[in-house]
Amino acid sequence: MFKTEIYVERRKRLRELVKSGLALFLGNDEVAMNYPANTYPYFRQDSTFLYFFGLDQPGLAAVMDFATGKEFIFGNDIDIEDIVWMGPQPTIKELAEKVGIRETAPFSKLAEFLDEAKAKGRKIHYLPPYRGEHIVKIETLIGVPPSKVKKGVSEELVKGVVALRSVKNPEEIEEIEKAMEITDSMHLKAMEAAKPGMFEREIVGLEKGIAISMGGYLSFPIIFTVHGETLHNHCYGNILKEGQIVINDAGGESSMHYAGDMTRTFPVGKKFTTKQKEIYSIVLETQLNAISAVKPGIMYKEVHMLAAKTVTKGLKDLGLMKGDVDEAVAHGAHALFFPHGLGHMMGLDVHDMENLGEDYVGYDETVSRSDQFGLAYLRLAKALKPGFVFTVEPGIYFIPELIDQWKKDKKLEQFINYDKVEGYREFGGIRIEDDVLVTEDGHRVLGKYVPKKIEDVEAVRGR
Ligand code: GLY
Ligand code: MN
Repeated sequence: MFKTEIYVERRKRLRELVKSGLALFLGNDEVAMNYPANTYPYFRQDSTFLYFFGLDQPGLAAVMDFATGKEFIFGNDIDIEDIVWMGPQPTIKELAEKVGIRETAPFSKLAEFLDEAKAKGRKIHYLPPYRGEHIVKIETLIGVPPSKVKKGVSEELVKGVVALRSVKNPEEIEEIEKAMEITDSMHLKAMEAAKPGMFEREIVGLEKGIAISMGGYLSFPIIFTVHGETLHNHCYGNILKEGQIVINDAGGESSMHYAGDMTRTFPVGKKFTTKQKEIYSIVLETQLNAISAVKPGIMYKEVHMLAAKTVTKGLKDLGLMKGDVDEAVAHGAHALFFPHGLGHMMGLDVHDMENLGEDYVGYDETVSRSDQFGLAYLRLAKALKPGFVFTVEPGIYFIPELIDQWKKDKKLEQFINYDKVEGYREFGGIRIEDDVLVTEDGHRVLGKYVPKKIEDVEAVRGR
């Protein structure tokens, strides 16, 4: 937990952004796996609740009254029977004091408390719920039926929370660096341990074990696959074979739930083939160019477009694409190979604040989301500010189904050498990802260097 003053200050700043009404913040509950007492092994608190109230326990809610400045934590103290099974726990009052809140009450008082506010015609702000039980709670506590919950979300509160959570303070950067220590160790271990003949899941198990043994957890389900052309591939059943390449997209979460997110691609054998090296070099050049462009004020969409051009130029040099690079990118031809965005914000969530609405996080009045295939998936487009932390993760993939569809439709054939592309159907995919902080005068890549230059990757694979 951070020091008390940090939480007090964050809430003070939120009060400057949202001027009236009350806000209800629902903490998360344990999630039952197959019966209530057998929960999923990892309790994950809601990230906005953690940001403003710091308490990492289930069964809590908080209220901020923007008119009076009063703040409340609602939750139940445990009784002697709970102590028998769970051991002693601090009281709600003791917990609340740690984050500078004096007013507490049992959870059962929350509905009554909110009823009184409603009776006075006061607005109750809430954030978009992403768990079913929160939708039920919003109905029982505020009387908004499930079908109307989405419409009732407070845009004012969402914007206030996004404005604050987007800019990471030094304490948060330190936490992200801790997540990076875990992430770096996971990646290095995977790069060292993967051998032909192993199942993908053997490496996934090692990585997860490292995250837990270092006091953290995973920030998202690991993607470790020889079928990297499937962007979010969560199957781990393939056997690694000499000649293949494997994508490892994995991140640790610090004990305070800040995320890391990194991707490395390496050969299953000791060396990349020439064909793999050629594509890998384009992705690496794209990533390094994009990172170099990061500075305050630049639109991330501009950095994404730079990446798209580097990919296109590289593929043109290899004979897979043709025509004018700028024109090809303007038409979205590169998206056959690079069909996703360059990156996303990262913080308490690996896709930071995605539950609040991607467009509030990554877009603003100066830039709206494109509907072009590929560019439409860009999660962060707006101008960068010091304190933003996000990923830079270009990739090149050969997705047989997508190639077949585009080829059949003769899509953008003035920019794509479909005959040559056929020779890459079995290639898979390559992605390289790091996490970057925008500083006052440029940027800093977070975490330590995990091999990504071809010779460094091959040196680890050859050990
Ligand atoms: N690391 C997975 C993703 O960014 O979607
Ligand atoms: Mn990512």
